Amino acid sequence: MRIKKAVFPVAGLGTRFIPATKAMAKEMLPVVDKPLIQYAVEEAFQAGIEQIVFVTGRGKKALEDHFDRSYEIEHALEAKKKHDLLKQIRELVPPTGTIIYTRQHEPLGLGHAIWCARDIVGDEPFAVLLADDLIQTDRPVLSEMIQKFDRLRASMAAVMEVPKDQTDKYGILDATAVEKDIYRINDMVEKPSPDQAPSNLAIIGRYILMPKIFALLGKKQTGAGNEIQLTDAMKTLLQEQPIFGYKFHGNRFDCGDKVGFQMANLAFALERPDMKDRLLAFIKEVQAEEQG
Ligand code: UTP
Repeated sequence: MRIKKAVFPVAGLGTRFIPATKAMAKEMLPVVDKPLIQYAVEEAFQAGIEQIVFVTGRGKKALEDHFDRSYEIEHALEAKKKHDLLKQIRELVPPTGTIIYTRQHEPLGLGHAIWCARDIVGDEPFAVLLADDLIQTDRPVLSEMIQKFDRLRASMAAVMEVPKDQTDKYGILDATAVEKDIYRINDMVEKPSPDQAPSNLAIIGRYILMPKIFALLGKKQTGAGNEIQLTDAMKTLLQEQPIFGYKFHGNRFDCGDKVGFQMANLAFALERPDMKDRLLAFIKEVQAEEQG
């Protein structure tokens, strides 16, 4: 039961980023100089994933091209002797056959997007990564989760503590702590108001799922927003199998949200020695102007 495949649902409409997402998947938006999807794919390969499954929708061309060779650019970089850049763009192309594309014809929800990968994944546990949840950490979340999975042998979701007044933005757990950073999930509540929330533990876009989830998603029951929700299928799965929450270490940025996306850009840019000083000086300048 090794986790070999990772599913990347990238077929959402990304309405919060229109017009940027009119012709391009939200996951192609760059944080500093790398598209969101590349951060997630790197995390997956780092965790030992062998096969990447993209569930794409409209505007998949840029994403496909991003993970393919570009002979014109390679040629131009070679001519200009830009060897570092040349190495970078060659390295980001995974070996032939490690990426599989499938299509979600209509954006019927995250649960439905994952279900679209059922025949490619088959009867084995698999990972799901939502690239718009970008995590800054020195302990890549999926690697940690796979390590836990090797022992727990059950479905798992990454979780983080959120301020109590923000529970209505997340899927929130009713859960029991079983060991350091691990919770056994009793129930999940989608976007509860703070007074209804069973905890402040929120589910974030990294999952390990047992293949049984496909049969449950296949029932195509719609939930919140009239979409086929992963959370609903996980709630049903809970009646038959345990599901754990793993509280990861690191800063998570919601890059599906405009403010979260800007914060991610700033946080990742400040990690770059070649950018840090100029940015900090600019921030100080803006702050001083704001304070008049
Ligand atoms: P979001 O809930 O962020 O929705 O999806 P969205 O459509 O991408 O963005 P907004 O809210 O309209 O701005 C979470 C993840 O699930 C994928 C998205 O691509 C994103 O990675 N998704 C969502 C699908 O692949 N298909 C869907 O039908 C819905």
